[in-house]
Amino acid sequence: MIIDVLDTAESFAGVTRRTVKKVPLLRGRTVVNLFFEASTRTRTTFELAAKRLSADVLNIQMAASATTKGETLLDTLANFEAMQCDMFIVRHDRSGTAHFIARHVAPHISVINAGDGSHAHPTQAMLDMFTIRRIKGDFYPLSVAIVGDIAHSRVARSQIHALTTLGVNEVRVIGPKTLMPKDINALGVHVYHNLEAGLRDVDVVIMLRLQRERMDSELLPGELEYYQQYGLTEEKLKAAKADAMIMHPGPINRGVEIESAVADGPRSVILQQVTHGIAIRMAVMSMTMGSGLDLGTET
Ligand code: CP
Repeated sequence: MIIDVLDTAESFAGVTRRTVKKVPLLRGRTVVNLFFEASTRTRTTFELAAKRLSADVLNIQMAASATTKGETLLDTLANFEAMQCDMFIVRHDRSGTAHFIARHVAPHISVINAGDGSHAHPTQAMLDMFTIRRIKGDFYPLSVAIVGDIAHSRVARSQIHALTTLGVNEVRVIGPKTLMPKDINALGVHVYHNLEAGLRDVDVVIMLRLQRERMDSELLPGELEYYQQYGLTEEKLKAAKADAMIMHPGPINRGVEIESAVADGPRSVILQQVTHGIAIRMAVMSMTMGSGLDLGTET
């Protein structure tokens, strides 16, 4: 299934390079962006992806919606159903929200998880796999290191799931003990608490930000100490393979988890990840709504 999404996204990557970046696959359909939590990349690339598929898009500002007047989430969604909307893209700070919504809306409505709490961020992981495959080719020989706040990261959970499903040689997670999930040993990864040891000879380095909004207690001595131990600098990167690629889902915090020279350096693919997000989200939306791939017609 992941490979199907990646292959479909390859077709859409061609569309996004055209002068007229549109195909009619979702013409007449309405997509609702329901973002209950801040987002730059995911919300806008879902919007661009929907528009490039010729769908109509509603961007709901939840803070300015009638939920602030006491309307429940399910009543709000019933109103969008009454407007014959076809798809909800859901970002929420509580794990399980997209699943909860999917269980309560009409069966013809598609629901896509755009990040729920510390649980999952599936389209981010798929765009990351797309980026890795484009640059490295096969997944099997790769050693991949995910560095930082693993405990609170929905991105890390989805990436670990995708990487192990795709059969990479090794997934390493690197970070302080306080930022490792309790169930980490059940996820099929190797755990490191020393950055340079964990980076030794890896092919891919994925940096994560500290998810302070999900920490309910002080888990670190301070950002300076964290940067000294876990911040990715050109010096520490010498432990990885010479052609190791550097990834980050964003937003990046320069001088906290990554040095600018690395984030902006020749091995960084951080902005390519953002570009690939459009093709991946076009693939996920079109596959979810069951549209066949006929990319020949520009509208
Ligand atoms: N990577 C990611 O989810 O970024 P946003 O929070 O800006 O959507």
